[in-house]
Amino acid sequence: MNSNRLLQISLFIDHNDAVIDVGCDHALLDIYLVENNICKKVLASDISENALNQGIANIKKHELEFDIPTIISDGLTSIETSLYNTVVLSGMGAHTIMHILHNKKKLKTINKIIISSNNNYDLVRRELNKLGYYLIDEKVVNDKEHYYPIMKFVKKHKRNHFCEIKYGLLKISNVPYYEFIVKHNKELKPLIKKDLIKKLKIMLETHYYQRYIKKITGKKLK
Ligand SMILES: C[S@@+](CC[C@H](N)C(=O)[O-])C[C@H]1O[C@@H](n2cnc3c(N)ncnc32)[C@H](O)[C@@H]1O
Repeated sequence: MNSNRLLQISLFIDHNDAVIDVGCDHALLDIYLVENNICKKVLASDISENALNQGIANIKKHELEFDIPTIISDGLTSIETSLYNTVVLSGMGAHTIMHILHNKKKLKTINKIIISSNNNYDLVRRELNKLGYYLIDEKVVNDKEHYYPIMKFVKKHKRNHFCEIKYGLLKISNVPYYEFIVKHNKELKPLIKKDLIKKLKIMLETHYYQRYIKKITGKKLK
């Protein structure tokens, strides 16, 4: 797999998952999942016939036409979602993603949603909480000079902290991304002090920050 982003999405998928890849386009993720026996089954879908044809051509190239069914569908509309428990939405804008998820009836059996949105990550996190999905894990990948948060939501009636909604989950592996946010966020820029610890303090004045500092320095902050 030569896309960091798709590779990370695959790391959020487990053996018992039955996956609908909405907006599959080239279907490279689906091919990777099946070839590596990562999950139970995969459905590759796209709204565009042209895009799906490209996916089908790739699937045939890998001789997986009997393993990866394909369907043209606007989001989940034409899909029998009760046969699946996981949805992947990647490479689309936040508004398209929210349009696709608006029909709650289609989400009855969906326990996990993995999202790699092109923009408005905070909007995605907030709206997923409203739909009854909780952000449980997140990995930010740097693919071709761009940072992409890959978000894993599970069905749970629990809201994320507002800092998590705004900036994502604080994980040591995502620190370069937080540095990037600080550098490019006009609101935060005037507040930035010299070192990373202070930058993070400004950004994330929460218990996560305390836990994070303790983890990297071994010290508790006063
Ligand atoms: C940039 S590609 C992303 C391909 C792949 N998922 C990835 O992350 O690399 C976006 C795909 O989403 C599809 N798409 C856009 N709106 C959609 C919708 N409402 N339902 C299904 N697919 C959609 C487009 O046709 C396109 O093939």
